[in-house]
Amino acid sequence: MMQAFPDKPEISAEEVQAALDTAVSQVSSNLADFTYRCQNHSSVNGWYPPCENNQWTCGFWPGEVWLSFEHTHKDIFKQAGLVLAESFLGRIINKVEVDHHDMGFLYCPSCVSAWMLTGSENARKAALLAADQLMSRFQPVGAFIQAWGALGAPDNYRYIIDCLLNLPLLYWASEQTGSRKYAETALSHIKTCLRYSIREDGSTYHTVFMDPHTGLMSRGATCQGYHDDSNWARGQAWAVYGTALSYRYTRNPEYLKAFHRVTEFYLNRLPEDLVPYWDMIFMSGGSEPRDSSSASIVACGLLEMAKLAPIEEAKTYESLARQMLKSLADHYSIKDARLSNGLVAHGTYSKKSPYNTCTPEGVDECVSWGDYFYMEALTRLHKPQWKPYW
Ligand code: GLY
Repeated sequence: MMQAFPDKPEISAEEVQAALDTAVSQVSSNLADFTYRCQNHSSVNGWYPPCENNQWTCGFWPGEVWLSFEHTHKDIFKQAGLVLAESFLGRIINKVEVDHHDMGFLYCPSCVSAWMLTGSENARKAALLAADQLMSRFQPVGAFIQAWGALGAPDNYRYIIDCLLNLPLLYWASEQTGSRKYAETALSHIKTCLRYSIREDGSTYHTVFMDPHTGLMSRGATCQGYHDDSNWARGQAWAVYGTALSYRYTRNPEYLKAFHRVTEFYLNRLPEDLVPYWDMIFMSGGSEPRDSSSASIVACGLLEMAKLAPIEEAKTYESLARQMLKSLADHYSIKDARLSNGLVAHGTYSKKSPYNTCTPEGVDECVSWGDYFYMEALTRLHKPQWKPYW
């Protein structure tokens, strides 16, 4: 059974409130820049530039706007969130940069949220179209959702662990339409993912290439981690939160078992302040950057599982999440708006190593999903009845 760290402080209710207030105030200041434009995936020297609605990360900023609306009930957030939701409807209708699997990352925090909180039919329509787009990437030979590239291309016949966060859009679409096809696709994908992506020790492969002829795994590899055989911190974080979310929708004990394995591995590789280095091959000291976003994502996963687990286990998950958030709020969050327009510093999007294939971007910066999941985790603590967008 997992244990909270014996010697680490936990964030208190007052500190949660204060951290959320600070985050919401920063979101409020950013509305002028990011209502009719989107926010770049990561900051540049601490400052997010605007971008068009064409990145995989554009859904996180609207998610922060909706969380701010939930925290304050101020109309200004609702109006901005609805403007952004219209932009997401346009994006999916016009198929702007949607030939990849990140439909859940894009449409859960921007449009499922807008529909939940305002009943917007356009937001619902956008999210359902995005679910159809995601379905179109399912590969029956191997039973997985292809992450990137032209469908069926032999050099991209693969899925990535991150896709676990795209599956809730499919569960939601099944609930909305009454058609099981979306959920069935999600279940096929997660079955493949849990079979191949988790190694014996509970660590994970970032990407898994499949054999287009046999439908079996051909090899595990990395794109954004240090090495094919190391453990990219955010991939592990997606596995923690992703298994918890699929467990909520299905109560399949296999997902619970997977959640335990990947979370145990993650907890055993943390440095003193509970915020991982960008790859968990690095455990302490040195000059490698952290990925603070992984800590926020894992805190969300622990708090999701805390709602589903027996009471003693739930307490442990909540304590662990409070310990991680204490560290993030005290030492990583932005408290002075003159220094950055982000919420949490020291995230790492993609760091180049001699062995990986990524384009270096956003190293030791604020990252859009890091800000969003930090706010989500705080919201989960502040308002235990909060209804997730996932
Ligand atoms: N899903 C891509 C990333 O986490 O960087």
